Amino acid sequence: MSYSSLPKVELHLHLEGAAPPAFIASLAREKSIDIDRIFDGQGGYVRGDFDWFLKAYDAACTVLQRPEDFRRLMLAVLEQSAEQGVVYTEFFLSPDFCGGGDLSAWRDYLDAMVAASDEAERSFGIASRGIVTCLRHLGPEAAKPVARCAAETAGRFVTGFGLAGAEMMHRPGDFAWAYDAAREAGLGLTAHAGEWGGPDMVRETVDHLGCTRIGHGINAVSDHALCDHLIEKGVTLEVCPVSNLVLGAVKDWKSHPIEELRARGLRVTVSTDDPPWFGTSMTHEYEMLERYFGWEEERLRQSNRIAAEAAFCDEDTRAQILQKLEAA
Ligand code: ADE
Ligand code: ZN
Repeated sequence: MSYSSLPKVELHLHLEGAAPPAFIASLAREKSIDIDRIFDGQGGYVRGDFDWFLKAYDAACTVLQRPEDFRRLMLAVLEQSAEQGVVYTEFFLSPDFCGGGDLSAWRDYLDAMVAASDEAERSFGIASRGIVTCLRHLGPEAAKPVARCAAETAGRFVTGFGLAGAEMMHRPGDFAWAYDAAREAGLGLTAHAGEWGGPDMVRETVDHLGCTRIGHGINAVSDHALCDHLIEKGVTLEVCPVSNLVLGAVKDWKSHPIEELRARGLRVTVSTDDPPWFGTSMTHEYEMLERYFGWEEERLRQSNRIAAEAAFCDEDTRAQILQKLEAA
């Protein structure tokens, strides 16, 4: 069936990674920046392995240079998400791409993004929040100014702190200073782990950084004691199945552990990660889950309730989201 009208909650979406290729291409033309190599000539991004993806992603971001670029981008992405039936979304936002970690520049970028979020809520009925995110491959020292940006702007829109990028560079515990600062500022905590790394990376992310959510986390499946630990702690997994397939984190649909994780009792949610890079959308993810794992409407509704419960938002907003999920 088509799931486009099912109300959805998306917890794991990189703002820059959600930029339509045409949006990036038009800014590149406007600014005379040559990034032709990242486009496939058919309106998409060139696909490759994770190394290629991170490099191409960086290249795409070079055209996003002003707060206004981010305002337009966020508004365009939220309009598309609303068309997919998404009622609430959380964005990973990177001060490294928005002024290089400088707090005053970050505030200008953030103002522009909050304006887009507010406009999208008024115009399309979709609510959104921001997770300020540091990039692992830039190292723990570079994460400190990012954590300061997060802590200083924590509030109505910035409600979370995250860690993305090349998982195998640095240990989760190396980012403890940044996570302590974010926790003290009252931010919800998540980090990519167990996408490329093993169960040890997931365990360290929960136990040393205090994350209540894990980006991906799929490799936890091989360690049953860890699975029990995640269940006991109520940790929520932000699983992005098509991303895992396209980047090669799993070899085929049959090997994707999402159903095993769910059946074991873990709190599993579904997101798109960087949709145009992987040719996906929320509706497409649901269709694939139905096709390969027999997930039907009630199971998808359940994953959305779990996502709403794990959302980094205030309780009034959570109640509104849950109401929208139940109403439809
Ligand atoms: N940044 C954008 N997408 C990512 C992914 N799948 N893993 C790590 N960092 C990312
Ligand atoms: Zn991600």
